[in-house]
Amino acid sequence: MSRTKPIYHIDNPATDIYVGDNRDVLPQIKKGSVDLIFADPPFNWDVNYGKWRDNMPREAYLKFTYEWIDACLRVLAPHGSIWINIPDDTAAEIVVYLKKEKKLSMVNWCIWHFRFGQCRNSNFIVSKVHALYFAKDPSKRIWNPEQVLEPSDRATTYADARTRKTQTPSLRVPLDVWYGKYWGRIQGNNKERRNNHENQIPEVYLERVIRACSKKGNLVLDPFLGSGTTCTVARALGRQSVGIEYSKEIAKSAFERIQNGPVRLENSFESVVMRAFFSVNNGESTDEVILNDSLRNAFVKACDKELTKMGLRRRKESDYNWTLEIMRKEGKLGRVVNRQKRMTPSVKDIEIKRAKEVARKIIDAGLPKEIDRIMCDPVLRRDFDQKTKKIAPRIDLYLVRKAALNFRKKGAATK
Ligand SMILES: C[S@@+](CC[C@H](N)C(=O)[O-])C[C@H]1O[C@@H](n2cnc3c(N)ncnc32)[C@H](O)[C@@H]1O
Repeated sequence: MSRTKPIYHIDNPATDIYVGDNRDVLPQIKKGSVDLIFADPPFNWDVNYGKWRDNMPREAYLKFTYEWIDACLRVLAPHGSIWINIPDDTAAEIVVYLKKEKKLSMVNWCIWHFRFGQCRNSNFIVSKVHALYFAKDPSKRIWNPEQVLEPSDRATTYADARTRKTQTPSLRVPLDVWYGKYWGRIQGNNKERRNNHENQIPEVYLERVIRACSKKGNLVLDPFLGSGTTCTVARALGRQSVGIEYSKEIAKSAFERIQNGPVRLENSFESVVMRAFFSVNNGESTDEVILNDSLRNAFVKACDKELTKMGLRRRKESDYNWTLEIMRKEGKLGRVVNRQKRMTPSVKDIEIKRAKEVARKIIDAGLPKEIDRIMCDPVLRRDFDQKTKKIAPRIDLYLVRKAALNFRKKGAATK
């Protein structure tokens, strides 16, 4: 067959989209040149993918499956990893094929769990797909756990102090069952939704796979591009990518999406803020971290450092603080309570009483914004501190901020 060129290309990082059957296109890609493969094949469920016939006889489907796997493994580098997203029907066959025939090592058998499937009452509703993670040589594979850490239940639900003494305080690598906010199937009113695409995978799923198993500049391949999730996320994360799609129309739409970029990478920002918070809070609450100058400075530094590590741009202090505050309100940080007594014995009751009076005075005179907004914003917080200094020049500024925030909790410190 004649050599096919990518039908779409963008530079920096190089992103190539081919149209055709991946079994024809893959032989044209250099052997061993791909660092990471994510494959989400048609499941043979008679889905309308335009030209592709998704209702093959079972034997033909299995033959097709082994053929595209072989073509993928030829281009995979010796240190490369391959992920395959596959339902119950064919997971077992693929696992046996990769292990027994291809001598690959299974690193994880993950589950992508979604909370709404196809409704039916003939048997239990399907709510999972298998995410099979294999490597040619597990000892050489690329693995970046620090890029995907999340708060542990031990830290957030049980406030277990031991979790603060680890190298990554209160954080752990995700479990092998994946679900949560934005992890559902991409239904009609989801802002990720691309029209005319069946079985679109959530961006957070690809973000986890790409961050954990590749480095900036690496080459990521998706042999079943579909709506373009893999290349969209890979590009946003600074990885080169190749996508192969059988349908010309689907490839065109995927390319538009890749150019527009992902819609959920914001989610990374939240996880950065969450990680930064847990790395400095030492069991203290979000309020404490925002109000206490030294904790806040450490938190801001940790946010800057995490963003740089993740290849994302740094932001303003108020963005960090406010995102933390929103996550607290949404209950995403769980229960963060320091069981130690918070006030040092040297802080006399009388000082606290005075701080409350000062806070009350400032609030009664009128605030430009809600008190939690003020505390998150360095300029507004400085103004608040100036007012404090005018009323009580020697008082501990932290105590007045804290008293003001406590009024918020009693609903008495609105605009
Ligand atoms: C399950 S969808 C992939 C969805 C994708 N992961 C996403 O997030 O949008 C499978 C896609 O592979 C395409 N396809 C099917 N057989 C193919 C083949 N042999 N070569 C290339 N693409 C193929 C289909 O047209 C369909 O768009």
